[in-house]
Amino acid sequence: MTDTPLSNALLAERDLRHVWHPCTQMHDHRTVPMLPIVRGEGAWLIDADGRRYLDGISSWWTNLFGHANPRIGAALKDQLDRLEHVIFAGFTHPPAIELAEELVRVTPPGLDKVFLADNGSAAIEVALKMSFHYWLNQGRGEKTRFIALSGSYHGETLGALSVSDVALYRKTYAPLLLTPIVAPSPDTYEGELGESAEQIAERRLSELRALLEQHAHETCAVIVEPLVQCAGGMRMYHPRYLAGLRALCDAFDVHFIADEIAVGFGRTGTLFACEQAAVTPDFMCLSKGLTGGFMPLSAVLTNNAVYDAFYAEYSAGKAFLHSHSYTGNPLACRAALATLAIFRDEPVLERNRVLSAHLAARLAPLRDHPHVADVRQTGMIAAVELVRDKITRAPYPAEERRGLRVYLHGLQHGALLRPLGNIVYFMPPYVVTTEEIDHLVDVAIAGIERAFA
Ligand SMILES: Cc1ncc(COP(=O)(O)O)c(C=O)c1O
Repeated sequence: MTDTPLSNALLAERDLRHVWHPCTQMHDHRTVPMLPIVRGEGAWLIDADGRRYLDGISSWWTNLFGHANPRIGAALKDQLDRLEHVIFAGFTHPPAIELAEELVRVTPPGLDKVFLADNGSAAIEVALKMSFHYWLNQGRGEKTRFIALSGSYHGETLGALSVSDVALYRKTYAPLLLTPIVAPSPDTYEGELGESAEQIAERRLSELRALLEQHAHETCAVIVEPLVQCAGGMRMYHPRYLAGLRALCDAFDVHFIADEIAVGFGRTGTLFACEQAAVTPDFMCLSKGLTGGFMPLSAVLTNNAVYDAFYAEYSAGKAFLHSHSYTGNPLACRAALATLAIFRDEPVLERNRVLSAHLAARLAPLRDHPHVADVRQTGMIAAVELVRDKITRAPYPAEERRGLRVYLHGLQHGALLRPLGNIVYFMPPYVVTTEEIDHLVDVAIAGIERAFA
C-alpha cells in the first residue's frame, strides 16, 4: 500500500485505470461514481472523503455483525500469528476441525460431513459434481441432469450458472452451459389471483412431480434456494414447498440440494431456511454469512450415505475429485468460528425479530403506492416490487434503469441500496438499529418517488 493522500477522486481515477469490476458495465462509470471505501464501522461504510453510507444490502449479503466487527477481527488477528494457510489434502488444522464440528451441530440433523471450498459458486459446483458422482458410484451413470427452479440463481461459474435461470446472467453464456430441467418456481408473486402461498406451493409441487415422473431416471438432484430466490428478485415462497420437495426427492430417488448461500445464517428468521419446513436436504451449500462477511469461504454439508458411496479402496477409483488451493483456509475458518460464536452467545435471532418487525411496519404504507405491486418480507429480507401499472402488474422496461436512479439517490443520501431491476430490497447487517432502518427506508422511499414517479 502506498502512502499517498486518499480522496475519492484520486482513488476512483486510479481504480478505473486498471481494475475491472464484477457485475458492471465499466462504461457506466463515466457517470456513475466509483466509490472508494476506506473504512467500515458497524452497518456503515465510509469513503475516502469521509462520507458515510448505511450498508442496506450487507455488501452483497455477506455481512452479519457489522464491518470491522471487533470479535471477528480479534479471531483473525490471533490466527494470523499462528497459521495463515496450509494445503488441505493430507493436512488439517484446528480451525477447520472445529468449524466442521460446529456446522454439523447447528445445521439440520443428518448433515454429518463437511466439504469446504472458497466461495458460493464453488460450493454449488461441489454439490452438483458430488451428486452426479454419488449416482455414478452407485452404478447410475445415466443420471446426468439437474432440475432447477425458474428465477433461480446459484452463482456464475459454468456449472452454477447452468442451474441458474436469471436471463441477465445466463443468456450470453447459454451456449457454454449444461441444460437443466426448469421447474416452475413456487414464487408467491407469480401466483394466481386469490391463491394462498401454500396453495401455490402445492400446485408447483404437482408440476414438479410431473417433471420427476418424466425425468427422475436421468436426474441427479433438484436444486433450490430455500424460501427466498434472492438474485432472481427476492421472490419468496411458502415452506410447504420444501417439505413437499423433500418427499418427492425421496420418492423419486433424486437428491435435494439446498443452496442456503444467501438465506442461511438467520436471514429468513431461523438459522437456516430449511428449518422452517423441518427438512434436511441431501446437500446444503453455505457461504456469504458463514464468515460474517469477512473472508471468502464456503461449505457443502452432506450425509453419511453420500460420503460412504465414495469411501472405498483407492483402486476402486471412487474418490471425489475437486480441489481449490485455498480450501479450508485457516483464517477464513477462524472468521467463521467467531461468527458462529456470536450466534451462540447472543440472542441474534430474537433481536432480528424486533428489527424485521420494525422494517415490516415501516414498509407497510408502500403497499398503497400507485407503482408498488408487492411488499414482501421473510425475516431480515424485505423487497418492494415496482411496476408501471399496479393493476396489470406490467413492469417498467428494464432499459429505463429506474433501479439505478434509486441507487444513485441512495448514495447521495447516505445509504447503499442496490435494487435488482425494479425491485428495491433491504437486507441489512444484523447490527443495524431501528433508527438506521428508518434512515434506510426514508432514503428508499424518497428514491422511489424520484425514480418511479
Ligand atoms: C443463492 C446463491 N447461491 C450462490 C451464489 C454464488 O456465490 P458467490 O458469489 O460467492 O460465488 C450466490 C451469490 O449471490 C447466491 O445468492
